[in-house]
Amino acid sequence: MKVAMIGAGYVGLTTSACLAELGHETVVFDIASERIAQLRKNHLPIYEPGLDALIRRGTAAGRLLFCNEISAAVGEADAIFLAVGTPTASDGAIDLSQLEAAARSIAPHLKPNAVIVIKSTVAVGTAARIRETVARMRGRMDFHLASNPEFLREGSAIADFMQPDRIVLGCDDPEAGEVLETIYAPLQGRTTLVRTSIANAELSKHAANAFLAVKIGFANEVANLCEVAGADVSAVTDAIGLDARIGRAFMSAGPGYGGSCFPKDTKAFAHSARRLGAPQGVVEAVISGNRDRPVRLAARVVDGARLRRGDHVALLGLAFKANTDDIRESPAIAIANALLRAGMRLKVHDPKAARNARKVLKGDVEWCIDPVEALDGVEACVVATEWSEYAGLRPRDIARAMAGRHVFDYRNLFDPAAMRAAGLHHHSIGRKMVKAEGGHRGKMTEAGALVLPQNAAASQA
Ligand code: NAD
Ligand code: UGA
Repeated sequence: MKVAMIGAGYVGLTTSACLAELGHETVVFDIASERIAQLRKNHLPIYEPGLDALIRRGTAAGRLLFCNEISAAVGEADAIFLAVGTPTASDGAIDLSQLEAAARSIAPHLKPNAVIVIKSTVAVGTAARIRETVARMRGRMDFHLASNPEFLREGSAIADFMQPDRIVLGCDDPEAGEVLETIYAPLQGRTTLVRTSIANAELSKHAANAFLAVKIGFANEVANLCEVAGADVSAVTDAIGLDARIGRAFMSAGPGYGGSCFPKDTKAFAHSARRLGAPQGVVEAVISGNRDRPVRLAARVVDGARLRRGDHVALLGLAFKANTDDIRESPAIAIANALLRAGMRLKVHDPKAARNARKVLKGDVEWCIDPVEALDGVEACVVATEWSEYAGLRPRDIARAMAGRHVFDYRNLFDPAAMRAAGLHHHSIGRKMVKAEGGHRGKMTEAGALVLPQNAAASQA
């Protein structure tokens, strides 16, 4: 099939590279012409594991093209996927300006009977609005519309696309359904194709993200309880997760959910539900708990390590989760800003997201090229993203690098007993703080001699 992709972001690029891999002739258009120019030179504007190689394969095979002209991208296409951004508007609704603009830009160039496929995440009722926009511009209804929400996760986007739990095809007429089934035919046998109405498809995307966010929010609240009750949230979620009705996935407690999806989609879901007269109280409670969480966790750093203005804190991780360079709504950035507001000086590191973070994180921030440099001489350390290279740090090396000894392990990467044995106070999520073994120890030189930190009195207390 001939496919056009409008939007070359995380979803548009992954989806088009995968569609080309499935054998479809795929042309990608983005309004950001420099993005297309970069892609033509094989420079990816985002980091997504494996995407580079997949794009090279598609372009080398001649099945994947990047195009600067909307008419050329759309004119021959059987299906035109819209994968542009749908950010939150100031009132919590979805800002549909990118989607409306994309719909208007393709409308004059559609061949008769082309299928417009909404890939972007939208509230129920949006497809109907886009249908009107395109019909108005064309002056006739010689096209089809479908909703095909995307469920991939950043960091594992290709595998999620190629082996999805399900593919939802929302179509209100059989022609659109047939085109979409042909496009996804190579994945049949690996997954379930759910053919349903457009409204059901739109709602199933928002409801899925809202439910996953509720699961995480619930785990984080249970974690708060475990901390005061002397229980361990991992043990509790492991135990309840074995119940097939509950499931362990998406119950890892942490600094709160972030990213470009859960925060905005929960808000949009709640907003649209309220507008339609069916408020989603559970989701609204989760939204507010998640919003406050990073600030509370930053306060725990200042109080727990008895920090003073001007103290150095290492922040390991800036991305909203591991294996991505995406910092949108990252709890790590929210923690960083709260620490900066409290007068801390930050030494930060992230293996992939530093370039993006530099654009938003301003103030007393030192950018470090590896985690050990970030840890050097700091009074406290916060682990905000679960990169495997942080999990691989040896507690003894952390202790050796730091001046103070408080580690706030907000992704539960380290073994509390090993941290304790290395002379570190281990503050984790959903467990009581584990105090360092023995008395005070300060920064050690390479030879192992003890050098007391400047604020020894504070960190000893
Ligand atoms: P993104 O911001 O990474 O990419 C959007 C792209 O669209 C940008 O390159 C932008 O230049 C381009 N664009 C904007 N307006 C345009 C227009 N009028 N014409 C052509 N191009 C235009 O966004 P994303 O993360 O890929 O998300 C896209 C959609 O997919 C959103 O609705 C999002 O909620 C949804 N989604 C995202 C993910 C994810 O993991 N990022 C997963 C599932 C669904
Ligand atoms: C999420 C969904 O998982 C995808 O199915 C969906 O397609 C996408 O949103 C979207 O609609 O755009 P993504 O945002 O890439 O994908 O990342 P997730 O892996 O879901 O993580 C989201 C946030 O939740 C991260 O901050 C992560 O650290 C956090 N999280 C996740 C937890 O705190 N605990 C968990 O158990 C899982």
